Amino acid sequence: MDHDRLFAIALEAANSSYSPYSKFRVGAALLCADGTVFSGANVENRSFGLTVCAERSAVSAAVSAGKRDFLGIVVATPDADYPVSPCGACRQVLSEFLASAAPVVFGCSAANRVVTTMGELLPNDALHELKERR
Ligand code: THU
Repeated sequence: MDHDRLFAIALEAANSSYSPYSKFRVGAALLCADGTVFSGANVENRSFGLTVCAERSAVSAAVSAGKRDFLGIVVATPDADYPVSPCGACRQVLSEFLASAAPVVFGCSAANRVVTTMGELLPNDALHELKERR
């Protein structure tokens, strides 16, 4: 997985963020097994709980386009001065499609990124254990 290229795509996607409430832009780049990349941005709402994170936007875009096999995801949080990890809800949604060994990268800049895996972010996930036994 080309982290630099995907981070650049995630950073670009953050420019589409609709975040008038938090003023915190997030972009995500989801790599499909066929090499295509789907991006997503966070979409906030005045009813705050309805906010959709960038990661879930990217998953929705990709699945809506017929993709289901993903190799990893890169998330950019350019308004933070430290890498911000995917929230618990996004970890759950990502785990539906990403193998536990799949890379998850998050960073506030190209130079300040964390590289981890789905399984590190959501350990002891029953779906993964079931999938990997099949
Ligand atoms: N947010 C994301 O889109 N992804 C993350 O990984 C962290 C949080 C969004 C949700 C909300 O629009 C804003 O960032 C502040 O929490």
